[in-house]
Amino acid sequence: MELGVNIDHIATLRQVRGGIEPEPVMAALICESSGADSIVVHLREDRRHIKERDLFLLRKVIRTKLNLEMSIAPDILKIACQAHPDQATLVPERRQELTTEGGLDVVKNFGRIKEAVKKLKQNGIPVSLFIDPDKKQIAAALKIGVRMIELHTGRYAQAKNALQQNKYFKELKDAAHFSKQKGLRVFAGHGLDYHNVSAIAGIKGIEELNIGYSIVCRAAIAGLETAVRQMRELIDRK
Ligand code: PXP
Repeated sequence: MELGVNIDHIATLRQVRGGIEPEPVMAALICESSGADSIVVHLREDRRHIKERDLFLLRKVIRTKLNLEMSIAPDILKIACQAHPDQATLVPERRQELTTEGGLDVVKNFGRIKEAVKKLKQNGIPVSLFIDPDKKQIAAALKIGVRMIELHTGRYAQAKNALQQNKYFKELKDAAHFSKQKGLRVFAGHGLDYHNVSAIAGIKGIEELNIGYSIVCRAAIAGLETAVRQMRELIDRK
């Protein structure tokens, strides 16, 4: 099972003070050297975290796979074609949302998504569609002609109790099985953390998990002792 690490929230932290730290490029290199199989960034239309500068620098230094999450807005498509990531993952985007709230509605936006996929493919960029674990969406993705999808695990991750979680788990398992049978490569992600990841990692047919927020949160806590000790030392040395 491959692990894609989404570093958007390293950039979120940088934006809090509008400075240069923490550096997403440095974070990406640490992720790669720690076992990440790919680096994921979402260049949002409002540029709330990742900027063009990050994307183009990452393109130069990433040795694993650079996976760009993106909407199908024309200016974002243009930047994607210039940056040339190893993979583009099309996601829905709403300005007001805190994070990507649901999968792409491929059924409803069939024509626009098909056009975007065509443009990216013409530029040599393989495309994955981020969709809910729903047969209608999977069938529409197949009809568009993509070879890869990412199943949205958000409903499973946010389940309020075990009953709900089992239901959403089964939904993901069935969707992965169905997609695989149809010849698609299947990835999954959103809301996965240290408590809920194991079950998803056990689903046959899912090749890659993309995880961001929980890893950045864990990094802040796991790294706090070292950070305080280093500051303590500097102050005590005077
Ligand atoms: N996969 C996709 C397509 C996403 O949009 C996101 C969030 O940017 C993730 C995975 C990672 O989600 P999280 O940050 O909750 O781990």
